[in-house]
Amino acid sequence: MSTAQTIDKAAVEQPYDVEAVRADFPILHHPVYGKPLVFLDSAASAQKPRQVIEAVSRMYETEYANVHRGLYYLSDRATTAFEAARETVRRLLNAASEREIVFTRNGTEAINLVAQTWGRESLKPGDEILVTELEHHANIVPWQMLCRQTGATLKVARIEDDGRLDLESFQSQLSERTKLAAFAHMSNVLGTVLPIEEMIAMARAVGATTLIDGCQGVIHNRVDVRALGCDFYVITGHKLYGPSGIGALYGREALLEAMPPYQGGGEMIETVSFEGSTWAELPHKFEAGTPAIAQAVGLAAAIDYLERLGIERVAAHEAELLNHATQRLSAIEGLQIVGTAPGKASVLSLHADFAHANDIGLILDREGVAVRTGNHCAQPLMARLGLTATARASLACYNSHDDVEALAAALEKVKAKLG
Ligand code: ALA
Repeated sequence: MSTAQTIDKAAVEQPYDVEAVRADFPILHHPVYGKPLVFLDSAASAQKPRQVIEAVSRMYETEYANVHRGLYYLSDRATTAFEAARETVRRLLNAASEREIVFTRNGTEAINLVAQTWGRESLKPGDEILVTELEHHANIVPWQMLCRQTGATLKVARIEDDGRLDLESFQSQLSERTKLAAFAHMSNVLGTVLPIEEMIAMARAVGATTLIDGCQGVIHNRVDVRALGCDFYVITGHKLYGPSGIGALYGREALLEAMPPYQGGGEMIETVSFEGSTWAELPHKFEAGTPAIAQAVGLAAAIDYLERLGIERVAAHEAELLNHATQRLSAIEGLQIVGTAPGKASVLSLHADFAHANDIGLILDREGVAVRTGNHCAQPLMARLGLTATARASLACYNSHDDVEALAAALEKVKAKLG
């Protein structure tokens, strides 16, 4: 059993102290418009605990230099910290080896990397890529670009009206033509947690490669890429309480080994001459240029932080808040929660018949309540739902029952004003 799992087990046995968690997030203690901040937009980008902020500052203050390049003390320290961060990501995902963890700028870049390396090598006219109706743009557009480049076709599995995946639609669109099935672990708009184990097994049965967009899922669910049996799993740091500018791609070693590099430049080469170049070992083959060094260290601090809280314990806390919010908001007449799939997590998309989502967002803002409004980078999903926008409240480890009450009270104010 890994250290992280041991820590989690111990942590799960203690009650969840949300006030202690909140004390770790300095930004939550800065009022907005003279009112306490109620931050409910963590699905867009989560706030950072001081453990992350301090890890980044500490690196810049005491051990910063470029990595993998210098023979001197600081470069060695920075390289050690950077590679230790990779090991932390490996541990989070339970990958078999650090060679399977490629640092990227974010989840979007990780998906584009797969599309432009594995995808361009592997797809030809007549092949198919299967996604679902609830994907955000990052898991649609790179595949559309790849289809244009290769002549492959994009297929889409349906969702039900409550936001759950129509597993029969997914199954029925898989065939020997399906070269890739790419789907979210969790919807950023609806909170639906997809049955990824079943989906991976179905895709593998027809010989398809699988990519899981875990940008939302990895925050609220324990992930084990080896148990899942997926080929690629994508994460981003800034939603995981870490810095922006850093994400990671997990790829099965045999696949990464066979893939050509993504970008060319320093760091990703073994030798260079004007006649040609050879590539560095995994994972560096995919990491051209100076990487986001302090951001990687910050991401590792964020993962350590979340694991100390206990991913399962945070998820249980968020589920309690989600229950509370669902009950409280369902009682507001004219307000509809969009996305009610069984087992959904941490996200409440709201549609009101008394106000446009943007008006809701603006009025909530003046109450100190931050939610995201719009299409949430998922225009095809909004079209499927027959909506142009929702107001989305998303929950994180630092949210409290008071936050839920503040959201409900602010929505009641919107209704009193505009209803
Ligand atoms: N995909 C991010 C969100 O859901 C940006 O807000």
